[in-house]
Amino acid sequence: MKYLLDTANLDDIRYYYDIFPIAGVTSNPSIVKKEGKIDFFSHMKEIRSIIGMDKDLHIQVTARDTNGMLRDADAILDKVDDKVCVKIPVTLEGMKAIKLLKAKGVTVTATAIYSKQQGFLAMEAGADHIAPYFNRMENMGIDPDDVIASFAEMIELYDYKTKILGASFKNAGQVDRAFLAGAQTATMDPSILSAALGQAHILKAVDDFDADWKSVYGNVTIAEIQ
Ligand code: G3P
Repeated sequence: MKYLLDTANLDDIRYYYDIFPIAGVTSNPSIVKKEGKIDFFSHMKEIRSIIGMDKDLHIQVTARDTNGMLRDADAILDKVDDKVCVKIPVTLEGMKAIKLLKAKGVTVTATAIYSKQQGFLAMEAGADHIAPYFNRMENMGIDPDDVIASFAEMIELYDYKTKILGASFKNAGQVDRAFLAGAQTATMDPSILSAALGQAHILKAVDDFDADWKSVYGNVTIAEIQ
């Protein structure tokens, strides 16, 4: 399982990167908007310098037409680095862009996936990652577990190299379900990870351990025992 941070916030990336086993960072134009009008390329390069070249950095194009997407991809690969996974929404124009980018050997993440058809077509077009929008599908009455399980089944059946990168999560339970359904990777806002470990019952257990220890040893920690 690979956990990615779905954020462009540098402080969050620095902070959570040290805590969690993070495999990389993703963003999209809506996530970038949260940071204000940043100097886009230098900001993305800063994210890269925090996570290092051995981690995954996914950056989304903003053009809506194929040629524009290809130009965006070139700019990203040129001005950030050539290891970036270029995110392309699976529209008609995006599908064409995915085929053309794969022909050039670019690593592609097919995104904005709400259906089996989008994912199947992106796999067949050679996408390296497909990003089903878990919570958004659930909101639409589409079963995201079933969609992801179908992707996993087809990848196995046809030996595609595509990885399933679950996205659009609103809680840790959805992330778990995506992994259990067959996603290899999930990207999420850091708050989902911190909330998962900050539950009151976990903190209560630790408080109880602390109180029991101190009732016997006082404030002497294990490291301080003589
Ligand atoms: O990575 C895609 C994701 O950012 C979409 O999430 O929360 O806008 O549904 P959301």
